[in-house]
Amino acid sequence: MYFGADYYPEHWPRERWEADAQMMQAAHINVVRLAEFAWSKLEPTEGHYDFAWLDEAIDILNQHGIQVIIGTPTATPPKWLIDKYPDILPVDADGHVRGFGSRCHYCATNKNYHWHSDLIVGQLAKHYGHHPGVIGWQTDNEFGCHSTTRCYCDSCRKAFRQWLQQKYGTLEALNEAWGTVFWSQTYETWDQVIIPRKTVASHNPSLLLDFYRFSSDMKVEFQARQLRILRQHSTNQFITHNLMGLFPEIDYYDLAKDLDFVSWDNYPRYSGAPDSTRLALSHDLMRGIRKQNFWVMEEQSGPSGWEIVHSTPRPGEIRLWTYQAVSRGADGIVYFRWRTCRFGTEEYWHGIIDHDGRPRRRYREIQETGKELAELWPFLDGTEVKNDVAILYSYDQLWSLQIQPNNPSLQYTEIVKEYYKRLHELNIGVDLVNHTDEFTDYKILIAPLLYLMTPELALRLTKFVESGGILVTTFRSGVKNWDNVVTDKTLPGELSELIGVEIEEYDSIYGETPIGISMELQGYKVEGTASTWCDVIIPGTADTLAKYTTEYYAGQTAITQNSLGKGKAIYVGTRLDANLTARLMDHVLTLAGVARGPLAETGIEVSIRGKAGMRLLFLLNHSGKKQTVDLTQHYVDPLTDVPITGRLELPAYGVEVLREV
Ligand code: GLA
Ligand code: ZN
Repeated sequence: MYFGADYYPEHWPRERWEADAQMMQAAHINVVRLAEFAWSKLEPTEGHYDFAWLDEAIDILNQHGIQVIIGTPTATPPKWLIDKYPDILPVDADGHVRGFGSRCHYCATNKNYHWHSDLIVGQLAKHYGHHPGVIGWQTDNEFGCHSTTRCYCDSCRKAFRQWLQQKYGTLEALNEAWGTVFWSQTYETWDQVIIPRKTVASHNPSLLLDFYRFSSDMKVEFQARQLRILRQHSTNQFITHNLMGLFPEIDYYDLAKDLDFVSWDNYPRYSGAPDSTRLALSHDLMRGIRKQNFWVMEEQSGPSGWEIVHSTPRPGEIRLWTYQAVSRGADGIVYFRWRTCRFGTEEYWHGIIDHDGRPRRRYREIQETGKELAELWPFLDGTEVKNDVAILYSYDQLWSLQIQPNNPSLQYTEIVKEYYKRLHELNIGVDLVNHTDEFTDYKILIAPLLYLMTPELALRLTKFVESGGILVTTFRSGVKNWDNVVTDKTLPGELSELIGVEIEEYDSIYGETPIGISMELQGYKVEGTASTWCDVIIPGTADTLAKYTTEYYAGQTAITQNSLGKGKAIYVGTRLDANLTARLMDHVLTLAGVARGPLAETGIEVSIRGKAGMRLLFLLNHSGKKQTVDLTQHYVDPLTDVPITGRLELPAYGVEVLREV
């Protein structure tokens, strides 16, 4: 197993490197990522490269059995480069230049930047592309971090026009697709087309959605330049990028398409107790992006902080987060950072060891974890996470709903998470999938807020249901076409036949008073509340599962279930409270014949990794209190084969790994 730290030898005297490498080795560290911000050390002046210091650092690490991942340093263009080409700097929506002095200060479409990024990446690739101690590369660092996905500079304006020209072919097609006749926005020449800088009021939603897509594509293309160069000059080295979990600005399915695997940066604890559901969802998305195991390239190893210091990881928490990542598919864990830096913006973003360089509690915990994982690796190696339930997570849906939330409290990822939460409580594994994926491998597909719809997607969803799948979708589905224009069909538009209903009218819910709901599932009744949005439904072929009990639409249908072929399509016309969501999900699981996971509803998170003939269960206590659970199956300790049955006690933040027998 790859177990490591993010290391910045350039922040420490040369004489310290040996001691660092020794301490790393003693902590079972076998990989470090380095150099991702070191451009000014690697190319101190234009065209003068100095890799000697990095060679030496890598040598020392390699001598201690530690392999290296090099980050291309393009998130921090040096001062000489910015001074020579100030147009590299990104521009915000107000038209103001975002200046030098922090990081990510570059525009991804700038030609001067392309040229210089190609040069530094090329030099590094030639120098290290065959180095036996360098196992892989990280492109840039956290693309889009600090709201840098969308740039509004002149270069981007030009690139946006080209992107649109490619997409639409003719201006007539663009005018038609966007509905520019509204408010006299019709364009007559391509160079009239605007980039959505600040205006008096809101922009055209179709233009905005295309701009979000374009901006994401520009990061993907910028990365593609690096991928081409790195692949050209390297052998047997992987390429990854450190994604940011639920970061909403880049379509991660696109960004990761040509990587060897996904990695991501996981910082669970800021000011308060971490949200284990959100963490699990993030891991599942990171696995879902390429349907493949992943790495954590930055795992929190101390209190985080720049100007403010956040709370310190509790004893056991770093180990717990590590196991949570592993349990959901991580094959590599790299802690951020090795040693807490004494200077610069991140002085208080603590690493494994403190400013004074001495190992303490957090070092010992990581050392212990590294030892355990090394022992476990022969069992873990080659295992995967396999699930019957999928949740559709689409950046196009996310963006279109960011542009028009419809209701102030509607947030795409939050609503996805509400459905995910019940599955998480029940320890039922979930895969996150894209709208372009095949759904037929799954028994259940939860697809909230299918705001944008195409006939093709509607057909694929229909086929999924006809062949026996259970689909759950919600209000604000089938509302718009892929150009972000409202359908002229009766809602739910393209989905009408599949869902078997008509939406008669809807009510966007404001204020504190929630709407009453009464749900009847398999003969038992449950009352609760709804908020955010209420579709008033006329069931056609569908059966009613729930009705509103308040407001002028009391007695009218809120949730339906339609049978089609061998499967069923459930439509939830409103946002349910947690209890109703849970009851509805229980019903869905029963319909699909998906069993509750091990230790469901005990508060202990369980995730399973398996391969032919073997399944490993990871039991995780995310709470600061010890918890006792009763095992209903027989398990053994994977390392010793000692049977583990019956009552099991997990200390605060405790972890158990069991093998099924
Ligand atoms: C991100 C970055 C790191 C570092 C940490 C802490 O994850 O990738 O370089 O800045 O945050 O702020
Ligand atoms: Zn730009």
